[in-house]
Amino acid sequence: MSQTQPLLETQSISKLFGSVIALNDVSFSVRPAEVHCLLGDNGAGKSTLIKILSGVHQPTEGTYFFEGEPVSFSSPREALERGIATVYQDLALIPLMPIWRNFFLGLEPTKGWGPFKRFDADFAKKTVREELLKMGIDIRDPGQAVGTMSGGERQSIAIARAVYFGAKVLILDEPTAALGVKQAGVVLKYVVQAKTRGLGVIFITHNPHHAYAVGDRFTILKRGRTLGTFTKDELSREEMIRLMSGADELEAISHELEEIARREEAQDQQLAQLDQQLAKTLEELEEDTGRVQ
Ligand SMILES: Nc1ncnc2c1ncn2[C@@H]1O[C@H](COP(=O)(O)OP(=O)(O)OP(=O)(O)O)[C@@H](O)[C@H]1O
Ligand SMILES: [Mg+2]
Repeated sequence: MSQTQPLLETQSISKLFGSVIALNDVSFSVRPAEVHCLLGDNGAGKSTLIKILSGVHQPTEGTYFFEGEPVSFSSPREALERGIATVYQDLALIPLMPIWRNFFLGLEPTKGWGPFKRFDADFAKKTVREELLKMGIDIRDPGQAVGTMSGGERQSIAIARAVYFGAKVLILDEPTAALGVKQAGVVLKYVVQAKTRGLGVIFITHNPHHAYAVGDRFTILKRGRTLGTFTKDELSREEMIRLMSGADELEAISHELEEIARREEAQDQQLAQLDQQLAKTLEELEEDTGRVQ
């Protein structure tokens, strides 16, 4: 296992929302040139953890280190300035704008100065093409509207953008959730590209196959607690699927269902007995009435 210093690390982080314990004593880290998958069921606390890492929330307890120093980000902008970029599933891209405009949105390159300062469109178009090519994406026309691109391509642009603007840590919250098999494959390829370029990637997914394809380490959250961090050598694909799918819980549910079925069967038997008794009583009654008449 690599002994590189983590880029980012949390020690015993907890987060409370009123009385809801979203995270409880979670220690987590990501190193340069590593893909660390964050896994767990709905409501496990994955988004809460990355919101702390990206400066949206502050932890209630615990310490957050970035490049070895304790940090407390008061906004996502502050985290981004330190090199922590987050790509959400519903991307902050504008569909009607061309690729090159989206790429530089909010960080436009300019030429000239003072009142003559203006957006350097030629530089932007050229850079977008080059940067996307480095990620293996060949766009013919940087003027193409983002809205006409596939979901996978849009994710890729957002990743390339983060890499270009110097991100050290790239956080991806379910980037493959809404994609088909082929498009998901495209995004997974860029996740690996970002890693080979030295970034620490935090990858949230519900899909164990996507996680296993690109992950170096895996942390599994369950109801706000961590079930542990495992390297690929320590966790087989089957074990990971079992931990993620909540197989134990499914088993408990199937026991419950069997129990209900057994109870229903017993009730059916009782009802059948009652029916028989009733039929017998009616027969007897009829016989009695016959005798009286
Ligand atoms: N702003 C908030 N206020 C109150 N409770 C919150 C808030 N954000 C999250 N929670 C609660 O914290 C818990 C963890 O939520 P979180 O969104 O982190 O889960 P998740 O693992 O990302 O789930 P999913 O897979 O569904 O996205 C949930 O019980 C959720 O309701
Ligand atoms: Mg979430």
